[in-house]
Amino acid sequence: MSKVSASALRDDFFVASPARLPRIVELHAVNAADDAARLLAGLLARDARTDPKFFYDAQGSALFDAICHLDEYHPTRIEAAIFRDARVAIAREIGREFPAGYQWVDLGCGDAAKSRDWLAAVAPRRYVGVDIAEAWLAPAVARIAEAFPDLNAIGVVADLARPLTLAPVLNEVAEAPLFFYPGSSIGNFEPPRAIAMLKALRQLGGGRGGVLIGVDCESDPQRLEAAYDDALGVTAAFNRNVLRVANRVLGADFDLRAFAHRAWFNEVDSRVEMHLVARSPQTVRFQRPHPAERDFEADEVIVTEYSCKYTPASFAALLDAAGFRRQRVWQDPAQRFAVVLATA
Ligand code: AVJ
Repeated sequence: MSKVSASALRDDFFVASPARLPRIVELHAVNAADDAARLLAGLLARDARTDPKFFYDAQGSALFDAICHLDEYHPTRIEAAIFRDARVAIAREIGREFPAGYQWVDLGCGDAAKSRDWLAAVAPRRYVGVDIAEAWLAPAVARIAEAFPDLNAIGVVADLARPLTLAPVLNEVAEAPLFFYPGSSIGNFEPPRAIAMLKALRQLGGGRGGVLIGVDCESDPQRLEAAYDDALGVTAAFNRNVLRVANRVLGADFDLRAFAHRAWFNEVDSRVEMHLVARSPQTVRFQRPHPAERDFEADEVIVTEYSCKYTPASFAALLDAAGFRRQRVWQDPAQRFAVVLATA
C-alpha cells in the first residue's frame, strides 16, 4: 500500500502516463496551507505530535513499502495470507450480502494492487479508488480500468483524516458501497475516532452498505516492538522522515540525527506508539506558514503515530457501536490478524 499526503508534498512524485485517463473527482481541494498550519501547530504544542499522514511523501511511501517486506512486520504478510486462503469464502459472503450488486470503494487505494486480486474474485458494478495522492490515483485507476474493461472505474481525491464527503459520488449509482479498508490502517485512529469513521461509512451506505476491514490483533509486546523497531532500521528511517517532511513543508531546520526512534507497546491503551526522542537540548526554527521556534529538552518526545491493536471481540464492539451488526471474521491460525466483513 502506498499512502501519500498533502498536495504540498506532491512535487517529487513519479507520475506514470496511462493510455486512457479515467474519471477523477476532486471532492474537496486538498488544503495544503491548512495541512501546513496543522503540522506546525502539532510541533509547537506542549505535547508535540504529528499526524501519521505526514509520513507519506515519496520517500516515506517508499520506506513504508520496504516496511511491508520486513521479516519483523507481520500485518501485511498475514493479511495477504488470509486474503488468499479465505478469498473464495469471503467472496461468497459478499455475494450473499449484496445480491443486487455493490460498489467496491477502495479507501486509501495507493497503487490499487490489493484490490486487483479481489476484483478478479468478486464482481462489483463499480470500482471507486479513494486516495489523497492524485498523481498516483489516476494511473492506479487507469490500470484497474484496463484490467477490468467491463468495470466502471473512477478515482476520488480525498483525505481520509478529514470528514468524508463521498455521498455525491456514491449516490451516482444505485448500488450500495462496500468499503475496502485493508492493512490495519484503521489502527491510526484512536477508538472514538475509529467509531466515528465507521459510523460515517455506515451512513454513506444508507444502512445497505458494508465494510471489509483488515485489523492487526497482535498482542505480544516483544513482537510488536520488533515490528515497529526492526533490525535494519527501516522503521526508524520512516519515523525520522516526518522531520524531513517538516523541514520541506514548514521550512524548518530539524537535525534528523538529533532524534532517536522509539516504538513502545502501550498495553493499557492497546496501541503501539512511535516517538521521536530529542537526544539533546535543541532549538528548532520554522519559517512557514509563520515564523516560529521551539525548544526541545533532552528526552523530550514528539508522538508521531498510534497504531491501535484489537482483539476480534474488541473490534466487534467497535463495529457494533458504529451500527455494523452483522459481522463475519476470518483469521490466521495463530489469530494475529483479523479480516472482518460487516454490514448494518
Ligand atoms: C499503515 C498505519 C497500518 O500502523 O502498522 C508501519 C504504519 N508505522 N510501521 C501501521 C506503520 C510503522 C502502519 N499503518
